[in-house]
Amino acid sequence: MIPVTQPYLPPIEDYQLLLNNLWKSKWVTNNGELSQKLESDLTNFLGVNSLHYVTNGTIALQIALKALDIEGDVLTTPFSFIATSSSILWEKCNPIYVDIRPDTLNIDETKIEQLITNKTKAILATHVFGIPCNVEEIKRIAKRNNLFVIYDAAHAFGVTYKDKSLVSYGDISTLSFHATKLFHTIEGGAIINNCRGIDNKIESIRNFGIDKRTGQIDYIGINGKNSEFHAAIGLCLLNQIDSLISERKLLTNMYDSELNQYISKPYIPKDTLYNYAYYPVIFKNQKQTEEVLNILNSNQISARRYFNPSLNELVFLDNKYKCRNSEDLSNRILCLPLYNGLEVNVLKKIIMLITKKLS
Ligand SMILES: Cc1ncc(COP(=O)(O)O)c(C=O)c1O
Repeated sequence: MIPVTQPYLPPIEDYQLLLNNLWKSKWVTNNGELSQKLESDLTNFLGVNSLHYVTNGTIALQIALKALDIEGDVLTTPFSFIATSSSILWEKCNPIYVDIRPDTLNIDETKIEQLITNKTKAILATHVFGIPCNVEEIKRIAKRNNLFVIYDAAHAFGVTYKDKSLVSYGDISTLSFHATKLFHTIEGGAIINNCRGIDNKIESIRNFGIDKRTGQIDYIGINGKNSEFHAAIGLCLLNQIDSLISERKLLTNMYDSELNQYISKPYIPKDTLYNYAYYPVIFKNQKQTEEVLNILNSNQISARRYFNPSLNELVFLDNKYKCRNSEDLSNRILCLPLYNGLEVNVLKKIIMLITKKLS
């Protein structure tokens, strides 16, 4: 079966080289040399002030909410991976769903303010598929209403908006370095903190709440550390990131040139330097979407209903919200295979199957 996505693994000799040192030092976890180097290389690469490497993108979101002391209602997007909502619920906050824009598929900034109450503490929005939210307007709304902004930037590694890394927007942005992501450490994630005065707090929360300078336990923490084996994968991949993005761009352009007349795609705002992390396509209706999915599957090709269901429809939510755009789009979207190493003849077959079905 052709997968929707496949991890890119670095040359094994590069990894082996880093492992040789680990076998000598035996410093395999607890903020070892490789984790420290990865943090500092990522900080430079992304051009940010503060980055904490953690176990995964979900823990990154949970630590972000904890570090900002968010209690109460969090305005969020229904069109995201479950981890965006489950982290809010895990931290005993309430997700309040704001519908999405049909063009970017991101939280609709024009619908945020009408849902703010005295219980609202934060906005947690996803840059879905790496497409920037309206960060300027969201910042203005947050400032006017005294709210924190957290961006789930799990898909946004390498994206720049107005010449700045997209993760440098918001009070905190989080990344996922899961194996399926453009840049990964097999499992992993990061917290990019753009807020003054809480760096040590994030550092402590990641390490069971223990302050590394004093040894005191000042916060309720968690084990959010990652291992040297994971960090080593990241170090091997980071210097290849430009060529990985270029290859994805090429594959995306091939899809676009043949499929554009049959499907629509989310809009990428101008001033964005995109990372080509996913290839989401939107069909006319649910029937057409399912027909394409079936024809691909019956030819041993996966495609993913990413994201479905719309998160406002989760069965365990107490309150029901209507999010018309998100519900509609989650029934009409598919992510087609896109990964480094996707063979051009496979891509051509996918295009042929879709165009044949839709023409
Ligand atoms: C938008 C979004 N947020 C959060 C996560 C969670 O990241 P992780 O799998 O690293 O916990 C993912 C993972 O795919 C994601 O797509």
